[in-house]
Amino acid sequence: MYEIHIDTENDSLFQGTKKAANIWKKKSATKVNNLTQRDIEDMFKLEQEDYPREIVPFADHPDFLSAPEELKQDVLSWGAIAYNNGAVSAEEKVSNPAFLMILRDVFPGTSHEAIKLSAAQAIVDESYHILLHTYGTNIIYRKRNLKPLTIPDYLPSRILNQLKENVSLTWEKNLLTLVFAVVSEASVNAYLNLIANNTTIQPLFQKIAKLHSDDEYRHAKVCSEIIKSIYLHFNQDQKNLFIKTYKIGLEKILAHDFDTWESILVQLGFKKAKEIINDCRNMPEKSHLVRDYTFHKKFAEEMGIFELLDFDFSKTKIVN
Ligand SMILES: [Fe+2]
Ligand SMILES: [Fe+2]
Repeated sequence: MYEIHIDTENDSLFQGTKKAANIWKKKSATKVNNLTQRDIEDMFKLEQEDYPREIVPFADHPDFLSAPEELKQDVLSWGAIAYNNGAVSAEEKVSNPAFLMILRDVFPGTSHEAIKLSAAQAIVDESYHILLHTYGTNIIYRKRNLKPLTIPDYLPSRILNQLKENVSLTWEKNLLTLVFAVVSEASVNAYLNLIANNTTIQPLFQKIAKLHSDDEYRHAKVCSEIIKSIYLHFNQDQKNLFIKTYKIGLEKILAHDFDTWESILVQLGFKKAKEIINDCRNMPEKSHLVRDYTFHKKFAEEMGIFELLDFDFSKTKIVN
């Protein structure tokens, strides 16, 4: 049984969400994009690399540089597959579960019609992103004639899973997913843009990343307004867990996933695979793909939790 209560008043509180919901039909990737299978085939260029070398943490390692070129290309292809796989996992295990809970009144302060509409639209968007990244993986696999490898799940999904295992109550598990969703929604652009703005890699992957990134700009805005409303209704225990988890999420999001890289190198038979990855693990400057906390700093200030969060926002390193 569901008690259905949709708030059709208090519009002024959710202006941004309402605006995002109204422009969705014109802006959403699922509406503006009409990629056909033919386009996908045409946009995959065998001679172009599948993943930017600049964001491979060991790209400048002497043992990587001296490896055969064909093997290096396989590493880049698997980097792209791991990235696509990560995007799918983020939608499946973090974003869509959170938007579904918002839609289903699991959290207080989410009854406004604009919130319901935006959450439902975001679920459509995220599902479409799963499709886009599946195009990406399929075509790499086929065109590069790859053998199967087993790689770990997306790092933030693994961390969220661990955190959920450490708590026992349902509201705690739900809140952990919500926090990881807002961290992810407001951070993923930075990663997507590293691909979208790289003109040396597959044009198809640039396009997929750009389509996805444009949606996430809107999601970040919608999420911030929804979370502010939810947070106002939280009790002290919920607020405490929110802040503690937000800080963990900020630290872990967009960290390099060395376990995945190691697994790829080992399975591809790369010489000194573990040594290469261990060298990177021991270099603090290689810990993160990118650190862009611009949105989060402003959000924390607006939420009134900046001091409580006690996070070092000066680590922000923006890559355009
Ligand atoms: Fe997405
Ligand atoms: Fe999103």
